[in-house]
Amino acid sequence: MNLPSSTAEATILTLRINGEQVQVRAGLRDTLLTVLRDQLQLTAAKRGCNQGVCGACTIEIDGRPARACLTLARACEGADVRTLEGMSDSPAMKALQDAFASHQAFQCGFCTPGMLVSARSLLEGNPAPDEAAIRVAMSGNLCRCTGYVSIIAAVDAAASTLGDHGASS
Ligand code: FES
Ligand code: FES
Repeated sequence: MNLPSSTAEATILTLRINGEQVQVRAGLRDTLLTVLRDQLQLTAAKRGCNQGVCGACTIEIDGRPARACLTLARACEGADVRTLEGMSDSPAMKALQDAFASHQAFQCGFCTPGMLVSARSLLEGNPAPDEAAIRVAMSGNLCRCTGYVSIIAAVDAAASTLGDHGASS
């Protein structure tokens, strides 16, 4: 797909987003978050601090969690980007979403997409994390509402669910 850019110095980039090859226009200073939200209307990744602190914009680039607000779009030429919208068929994501709901691990929900992406990445690399590992993995995601206890419990519950079913992806 070809989309207009608001920046005069824009160039066309080709990358994969949620399994689909797309073309986007990006100026020198456009971030991946801007491209995702403002061009492609993929709004699960949130613009919170917009300076790499809060984790609300967490997505995956080439299988690793990354902050979309700190990533220049032009650095993503040829990259494989996955946002929360592209993770709906993931058993780990399903378990996490169920656990977040049952543990009331969100209030306003603004941080939740980034939390889910970080937690899925953890469970894919470590299907049976202990509490310390969960806390470390989630330490880059800030929540102003919940106090974190319910979030940690939800991730732990999701890991248990996946372990019971013998699936972690
Ligand atoms: S919006 Fe990217 S880290 Fe806060
Ligand atoms: S639920 Fe509101 S910021 Fe986390």
